[in-house]
Amino acid sequence: MTETFHALETSAAMDATRALDTPCLLLDGDKLERNCDRMRERLLSHGVALRPHVKTAKCVEVAVTALRAPAGPITVSTLREAEYFADHGFKDILYAVGMVADKVPRAAQLVKRGIDLGVIVDSVDAARGLVAAAERAGVRLPALIEIDSDGHRAGVTPDDPRLLEIASALGPSLKGVMTHAGESYNCTTVGAIEVMAQHEREAVVNAAKALRAHSHEAPVVSVGSTPTATFARSFEGVTEVRTGVYVFQDLVMAGLGVCSVNDIALSVLATVIGHQREKNWLITDAGWMALSRDRGTARQKVDQGYGLVCDAAGRPLEPLIVADANQEHGIVARRDRGPIDFARFPIGARLRVLPNHACATAAQFPEYQVLREGCALEAWERFSGW
Ligand SMILES: Cc1ncc(COP(=O)(O)O)c(C=O)c1O
Repeated sequence: MTETFHALETSAAMDATRALDTPCLLLDGDKLERNCDRMRERLLSHGVALRPHVKTAKCVEVAVTALRAPAGPITVSTLREAEYFADHGFKDILYAVGMVADKVPRAAQLVKRGIDLGVIVDSVDAARGLVAAAERAGVRLPALIEIDSDGHRAGVTPDDPRLLEIASALGPSLKGVMTHAGESYNCTTVGAIEVMAQHEREAVVNAAKALRAHSHEAPVVSVGSTPTATFARSFEGVTEVRTGVYVFQDLVMAGLGVCSVNDIALSVLATVIGHQREKNWLITDAGWMALSRDRGTARQKVDQGYGLVCDAAGRPLEPLIVADANQEHGIVARRDRGPIDFARFPIGARLRVLPNHACATAAQFPEYQVLREGCALEAWERFSGW
């Protein structure tokens, strides 16, 4: 921390963001492109298709950057996302949250508009409900069976007898299998992520084999999480990879070794609004309403509080973190609780905060303020809701 605050004040990024009201969401367009290119090229080199999960950004421009094309296959987590992206020309959409009959009429509207909408189920009841509701709506909704590869959340294991029962209930609607290795977020070493990636792949490949052995067609074999996609040694037998948070990266991913702190494309621009000299705190206007409540790094080796504090140009000011957060107040302290050089951070100074979990922080804002080469600004809309 040797530079003077004056030097930060005159940087190009500072000038570019000075006019913005805070707190607001900054997106480094150059880092975004690098993160997207890295994943796309990696999967291309393994001969497996990328189906980015657009729930992270909920923004057309980011999806287009991920695909390097105006449209392409995408994954969504809400029907609202499916509708929004369909309105913007995306035709191949996987809704990757368990489907139930009540949601079929809304999904059917998309199918009737010519959207190739896939859904997922992990029970016989859901499969029967889906098929019956789709028939009533006059459409067919192709479905993947969700496989549990890590005990994380949903799905059936590849050797569960219900796998074949679900397949029979789906009949001609069966399109394949999918899994999400969400437990990879709890790994403590890269080696453990590699093992998790292997389990993820084997689970769906074995499930697809079991289905095919019983004369069911399973052309789609889908996996995906940013940690496993980053470190998987093989994608043999897999047809597509769904990754989401890699577009922005975040502190949780950095803590896992998936990226470096410098790769994180998203940050919250905040203003210093107070000094608590006795407590060694800076107070900012970015509380948890801006940063989100996510404390994903609390379980990791380095707890980043509510976010890592950077200067206005995005350079980390270690050891400053957002140690605590109220609704509209961020409490910035040194990680070691040592003294802060208050003269460096006068009232009105701008700081940036890198997020623990990019999806959660982005969800707090209606738009991204996009920085290019550290300065030129453009606003990209971000939608929300279900
Ligand atoms: C079903 C499913 N697929 C893929 C993903 C993408 O995971 P990540 O954001 O780690 O790339 C998620 C994320 O929650 C998911 O729920």
